[in-house]
Amino acid sequence: MDRFVRQSLLMLVVLTAFTGIVFPLIVTGIARVLFADAADARVIDREGWLMAATAADAPRDVASKDSDGDAAKGNALFVANCSPCHQASGEGVPGAFPSLKGNNAVNRPDPTAQIRVVLYGLRGVRVGGVVYATPMPPFGATLDDADIASIINYERSAWGNNGTHVSAAMVATQRARGQ
Ligand code: HEC
Repeated sequence: MDRFVRQSLLMLVVLTAFTGIVFPLIVTGIARVLFADAADARVIDREGWLMAATAADAPRDVASKDSDGDAAKGNALFVANCSPCHQASGEGVPGAFPSLKGNNAVNRPDPTAQIRVVLYGLRGVRVGGVVYATPMPPFGATLDDADIASIINYERSAWGNNGTHVSAAMVATQRARGQ
């Protein structure tokens, strides 16, 4: 084989690899980033009451990390009330209960949606591309504002999550707004 033929073959292999593997990976990667958020936002908009982040509702009194009560209490309340479904690892059960680890609602700076889910429950909403058959039960009647704030702050700091913390007053505001 002369040099020219060898070089052409090499070029062909490189081009095939690029168009066949690398290029589709880049395109699907970009599409995922572009469309995942848009789909999420649409679903949340459809749930009128869940309205994740209208400017008017955005809480102004974001609690500081050290005014959020007792982390051990949040952990204990989570284990007692939430881990049967979402698991102590926060990772849920694929197809049955969504993971709260790395979850959008749990890491979003505006905690309104998360507070409302815990107060009023949730059903039939797409979470991370999955529609869950089982509803999330409401906890507004069984847990008080401070308990709910502790659980939410636990979720927002556990399993590598890093969401801003909430205060009992913020939970009270959403409770007063009603479902
Ligand atoms: C009976 C099982 C069950 C229990 C107990 C439960 N959850 Fe859920 N949770 C679910 C299901 C199912 C969903 C998804 C519902 C849907 O999308 O329709 C969900 C959704 C959520 C979401 C929203 C996730 C998102 O991305 O929108 C949060 C936050 C949440 N749960 C927190 C909690 C907390 C906090 C507790 C305890 C106080 C708890 N859950 C207890 C089943 C449960």
